[in-house]
Amino acid sequence: MDLSGLDLSRVPAHVACVMDGNGRWATARGLKRTEGHAAGEEALFDAVEGALELGVEWLTVYAFSTENWRRPTEEVRYLMGFNESLLVRRSQELNEMGVRIRFAGRRDWRVPKRLIRRMDESIALTRDNRRLTLTIAFNYGGRAELVDAVKDLVADGVEPSEEAITARLYDSEMPEVDLWVRTSGEHRMSNFLIWQAAYAELVFVDTLWPDFRRGHLAAAVREFQDRDRRFGGLSS
Ligand code: IPE
Ligand code: IPE
Ligand code: MG
Repeated sequence: MDLSGLDLSRVPAHVACVMDGNGRWATARGLKRTEGHAAGEEALFDAVEGALELGVEWLTVYAFSTENWRRPTEEVRYLMGFNESLLVRRSQELNEMGVRIRFAGRRDWRVPKRLIRRMDESIALTRDNRRLTLTIAFNYGGRAELVDAVKDLVADGVEPSEEAITARLYDSEMPEVDLWVRTSGEHRMSNFLIWQAAYAELVFVDTLWPDFRRGHLAAAVREFQDRDRRFGGLSS
């Protein structure tokens, strides 16, 4: 990977990525949309390897949103099976790479039990790894996450505060997002990590997700390093 122009002492600790454009990638090749999802697997693993090389500590990827249930049944069913098979086939490899696998999202009745079992197995298998935490946002919606957090807050009888809400998100240990990337040229958040990314640097990449490789990640980090993060204050 080309690390030129990168300051490895200022790599974002938490990178979030909207893996978008699978359907368009497939359609442009005369393939079924689902074949675009399948092609996205290589992109994901290349991004994970890139994150490891760069020293990114947290990588969170959007795999299925609470809004994606609106898609045709066949595509939804494919995505459930595909994610299950990906965990079966590749959890061990991620484990050997030192990746800790976690999930963020609602575990409601619509998510197949077998997939939930695979999720729990990969969490258990990789729980002691610390090189990189790969969080797969599945049946994830930022608004749903906030509703769930506020429900807990009310049930606990706790006074609302930013800390109290953060502590009740799907993963209370997840740090704020530093770099938030979306592929495929779409310029919207689509409900991804809306709380955690409140002060993230947003980078939009035209590449469709199946074509995304670690070099694109490095380029996004380069762009991140050129930004001036002020957090409401003044430049340092
Ligand atoms: C992203 O690719 C993957 C999921 C939403 C699961 P899309 O399926 O949204 O691809 P486009 O945006 O239609 O090209
Ligand atoms: C966001 O992409 C969800 C995932 C990548 C999993 P979408 O393709 O579903 O978002 P919209 O519909 O373009 O906003
Ligand atoms: Mg899309």
